[in-house]
Amino acid sequence: MNNRPIGVFDSGLGGLTMIKKLAEYLPGEDIIYLGDTGRVPYGSRSRETIIKYAKQDAAFLAGFGIKAMVIACNTVCSVALDNLKSGYDMQIFEVVCAPAKAAALASKNGRIGVIGTAATVRSGAYETAIKNINKDLSVFSVPCPLFVPLVEEGWVTGSDEAAHCIAARYLSELKKAEIDTLILGCTHYPLLYDVISETMGKNVLLVDSGAETAKQVAADLKNNNLLNSAGTDGSIRYYVTDSIQGFSNLAALYLESDVNGLVEQITLE
Ligand code: DGL
Repeated sequence: MNNRPIGVFDSGLGGLTMIKKLAEYLPGEDIIYLGDTGRVPYGSRSRETIIKYAKQDAAFLAGFGIKAMVIACNTVCSVALDNLKSGYDMQIFEVVCAPAKAAALASKNGRIGVIGTAATVRSGAYETAIKNINKDLSVFSVPCPLFVPLVEEGWVTGSDEAAHCIAARYLSELKKAEIDTLILGCTHYPLLYDVISETMGKNVLLVDSGAETAKQVAADLKNNNLLNSAGTDGSIRYYVTDSIQGFSNLAALYLESDVNGLVEQITLE
């Protein structure tokens, strides 16, 4: 048993898709979330900058004496994982391997699509993870850099015309490639689930990287006897690097619960 909190970070709001699942699977855990909202997006930045930001994010969370760290950002996991893993003596969870495995198992025709930020796609992390599971699978990757600003702006509903136009343009190549499984390789993208699903059609299975990883985190903490033993409801505290109000409004919408009074603004540099 271990009653210390779990730390989770992302560049912005995207990691909330992971928080929602973690709170569902691990209701007794205390969670500290960091969204680097002042510097989002990470996905269009250089490797050096992503590593620098990721190290600052991890150091901030480690300061709370957390028992485990969840990197709820595919971009950081694809580019900076090794730089983080070496520095900490705790369980560090990444968001690429679990969805890669889920997609590899689910695909019937062996044709898997991956969408993510420019940095994630450029890294080839998903291709490597999928091919390590089964080298005969075909992987088609497409960067969708405008999806993150759409989510940070709250333009995500199935009826949003701008979101639909952008999705149609990004995803046309994947439709032609006749994939049957699509990995949402950025934790922001499940917030555009309806738009992406309507664009790809109902025969394409969407795999959520945060949700798949949350299952793994829950199982791992249980198996390693690291769950909180207090027997009470867990708490969630949020830290952001830009305005509290902007984050709180969208977080309430995405989490379907009020976060007022639970969010604090901090500086990382
Ligand atoms: N949500 C993040 C990811 O999973 C990063 C998005 C961004 O900052 O570009 O990749």
